[in-house]
Amino acid sequence: MTNTTRKILVTSALPYANGSIHLGHLVEYIQTDIWVRFQKMRGHQCYYVCADDAHGTPIMLRAQKEGKTPEQLIAHFQAEHYADFTDFFINFDNYHSTHSPENQYYANIIYQGLSDGGYITRSVIRQFYDPTKKMFLPDRFIHGECPHCGASDQYGDHCEKCSKTYSPTALKNPVSVISGTTPIEKDSEHLFVTLADFESMLSDWISSGTLQSEMHHKLKEWFAEGLQSWDISRDAPYFGFEIPNEPGKYFYVWLDAPVGYIASFKKLCDREHLDFDEFWAEESKTELYHFIGKDIIYFHALFWPAMLSAAKFRKPTAIFAHGFLTVDGQKMSKSRGTFINARTYLKHLKPEYLRYYFAAKLGNGIEDIDLNLADFLQRVNSDLVGKFVNIASRCAGFITKHFKGKLSSKLANPMLYQNFIREGTQIAIAYDERDYNKAMRDIMALADRANQYIDEHKPWLMVKQENSQSELQAVCSQGLNLFRVLMGYLSPILPLMTKSVEKFLVSPIVWQPEPLLSHTIKPFKPLMIRINQKQIDAMLEDSKETLETSSTAEPVSKLINYDDFAKVDLRIARIIKAEYVEGAKKLLRLSLDVGEKTPRTVFAGIKDAYTPKQLTGKLTVMVANLAPRKMPFGMSEGMVLAAGPGKKDLFILTPDEGAQPGMRVK
Ligand code: MSP
Ligand code: ZN
Repeated sequence: MTNTTRKILVTSALPYANGSIHLGHLVEYIQTDIWVRFQKMRGHQCYYVCADDAHGTPIMLRAQKEGKTPEQLIAHFQAEHYADFTDFFINFDNYHSTHSPENQYYANIIYQGLSDGGYITRSVIRQFYDPTKKMFLPDRFIHGECPHCGASDQYGDHCEKCSKTYSPTALKNPVSVISGTTPIEKDSEHLFVTLADFESMLSDWISSGTLQSEMHHKLKEWFAEGLQSWDISRDAPYFGFEIPNEPGKYFYVWLDAPVGYIASFKKLCDREHLDFDEFWAEESKTELYHFIGKDIIYFHALFWPAMLSAAKFRKPTAIFAHGFLTVDGQKMSKSRGTFINARTYLKHLKPEYLRYYFAAKLGNGIEDIDLNLADFLQRVNSDLVGKFVNIASRCAGFITKHFKGKLSSKLANPMLYQNFIREGTQIAIAYDERDYNKAMRDIMALADRANQYIDEHKPWLMVKQENSQSELQAVCSQGLNLFRVLMGYLSPILPLMTKSVEKFLVSPIVWQPEPLLSHTIKPFKPLMIRINQKQIDAMLEDSKETLETSSTAEPVSKLINYDDFAKVDLRIARIIKAEYVEGAKKLLRLSLDVGEKTPRTVFAGIKDAYTPKQLTGKLTVMVANLAPRKMPFGMSEGMVLAAGPGKKDLFILTPDEGAQPGMRVK
């Protein structure tokens, strides 16, 4: 145990509040959580905060599409994210939202600092504007033809065909993705942070051991290109915080997103009476680390330190970037089923498998990491079940059966035990340096050594020899004590198993423990079951399904109240006759018994999906109070309900037999 207690604040990037957590995200949250659990286990004061990133145009538009308020949408995703994280044992000290009073307060303070320091300038910029939706369009909401190669349906800022980048106003035949109309160009005044004013501070900061070498290198390239001013305002309508004294202008989502780190910590301070300034004042002596993906380094290593320094907050001690997740060597793909959501994974597999596999793959660099599913199965089964858990399962039975659960009073091989303890020092260094794959290699080498020890002493033979009983107890106690040391080293990775082992050994799991001697343990129960290929196959299949349902499911329409619903009079109808209509391409003429004196005639566009014969005699549901409509082939007196994209894929609703024509559907 180190003798100085470190005070550490740790963050992971804030996930956007308009999508589900997937295995790619989990690389980051698992990596961070392991590091935090390790620091806490070593006795340091370490806090881990995070939040949902709740602002911006995509969130606003998605809410509109689903007929929800943005607040409803972000509340839904915050709850979903938090549940996913909890079930993967990601142990935040606080999980907040950027749409919170704390965040608005600190975003304003930072803006004030920028403004007082003279770092804010104004200029008028020309952008595409959607006249039907009355809003400016972010680049990704404009499509058009590439100005370079003419490829159609390209994004507002880059072409996927020829990979050139351009200004959206250069696109040919631009279209607003939101309304499908042609956008117009419109001027508006924006606020900018002059990043170049921070050049010397930033250049010192990025060279002072705050970044990984690859990241430092990348940043220096950006410096060489010159630091561009940063546009921090967006015009209404925008879901975010209105800028003080700038009516109709809002902070761009990336201005208040990192402030969420401060806001989430502030909330924690209020709850647990911690000293906020100790962690955020300019002269703070505590440590601050941001774990992020390599895609968002620009925001964290340039904008963020500039914002903090302008408002006289401390700057991060270091930024730890990681690479991207690939599955079986390729980008996650919805069609291959490798775009796997956290929740889908949990339906089929245990969280600790993934925590271990990521740990076994993660180093402290920014290379991408690959989830190779065959390797995943093999590695988890052979390392965790075959090597590690095996140590305990080979020894525990003898102790329970022959010694009433009691461990020996002395170790059979104290030297070997001390060896295992000593190794803990370099394993701790590997954890601290985020070199988890090295830590896992060292731990598994020790597990091999423990199994070798058991193989050499063969307790299964000793048990048959009458004069070897105390040796049998000592050898099995040795094995269990070695297992316990390794459980300590794996504890940041396997929090659930740690708890089970604490119950089994009736003692706490700690880093580099004293041996357990003359101590009674509980009977052994299996600590982890092997992964079966079928579980992986089912998970991939399930991930494909997620895609299919999400592509056929239309977004839910705008909300209506009960009175609106009650206006629609839905009735059970029996199709007493169905017939082709001469000259009509899609229509069938239906005669419907709705319990009235005479049947109703309804024309339904379901000819490609059903023959008259299939329909005759069936029950269905109709809108009975739809005003009659004159059609080229006659009057239609209502409408039958059908679902599906159209043509052959149309499905009429069929109530269970027993429902009577004329019954109201409520
Ligand atoms: N909201 C921003 C971050 C704001 S931080 C002040 C954001 N959100 S995100 O949901 O897109 O990503 C959250 C984190 O997950 C980022 O660090 C991102 O790099 C990481 N990952 C997202 N997809 C990933 C993979 N496929 N692989 C590894 N990490 C990935 O960016
Ligand atoms: Zn092009």
